[in-house]
Amino acid sequence: MLIDLSGRRALVTGGTGAIGSRICAALARTGARVIANCAEFDMAAAQEQQARWQAEGLEIALEPFDVASFEASAAAIGRIGPLDILVNCAGITRDAPLRRMQPQQWQDVLRVNLDSVFNTSRQVVEGMCGRGWGRIVNISSVNGQKGQFGQTNYSAAKAGVHGFTMALAAETARKGVTVNTVSPGYIDSPMIRAVPEDVRTRILEGIPAGRFGQPQDIASAVTFLCAEQAAFITGANLPVNGGQFMSA
Ligand code: CAA
Repeated sequence: MLIDLSGRRALVTGGTGAIGSRICAALARTGARVIANCAEFDMAAAQEQQARWQAEGLEIALEPFDVASFEASAAAIGRIGPLDILVNCAGITRDAPLRRMQPQQWQDVLRVNLDSVFNTSRQVVEGMCGRGWGRIVNISSVNGQKGQFGQTNYSAAKAGVHGFTMALAAETARKGVTVNTVSPGYIDSPMIRAVPEDVRTRILEGIPAGRFGQPQDIASAVTFLCAEQAAFITGANLPVNGGQFMSA
């Protein structure tokens, strides 16, 4: 299937991370003009990523702002101008069993992983509906679908992301704007490498595909949902998890 997004403008939050940077590259290869959001404190690493894209022949702009702030998101997206595609990929973990979880760990994860989806989508939805075309893809997680020991904060935020997707999809379906969730399983990335090794080994044993995913596995799913050919798919939650969690 040939995916052509020439002339479309895309913003990817968390766009310089392990998964986000592959999403940016995949969208850029379809002809879209891509802007990668990154955290302001992460600028040095983001510029290194930008140089790697350039070495691949891809021109991807950087837009540093704090997705957890409504005002910062509004100001940055105002500067960028009209967007056709928004991929909400910014995310963090602050794992701890609930009996030891601090309010800060709860708030940080909810703000970056869930509030951000409101903060950015709120800026673009009206323009997309007005122009009659748009794609919003929210990155959730297998752990928002099945829960995970040590992740009451993350699982709550990621489950909330898909609730947001379904509600907004209902609001925009008649306007040519689709809103979907992609739920990655365990993807080879620094986030997974930070999981204690014994826990990681047990998780791997529970993945029918017998391997962790690659960032490109997520990028392919996101690009498909942004394609013209996916116009009738909205409010869906696409699992990309090697069979780790299956549901009807
Ligand atoms: N299921 C059941 N019991 C578990 C368990 C699990 N998955 N993990 C730990 N336990 C048990 C231990 O066996 C131990 O039991 P005992 O006390 O009886 O010996 C107890 O819980 C350990 O509790 P502690 O309070 O001492 O916790 P800890 O300091 O060992 O750390 C933790 C707990 C922080 C949750 C740690 O286990 C951890 O980091 N787990 C990884 C969680 C995880 O998978 N995170 C995903 C990150 S990647 C991601 O989120 C991306 C994505 O979208 C998929």
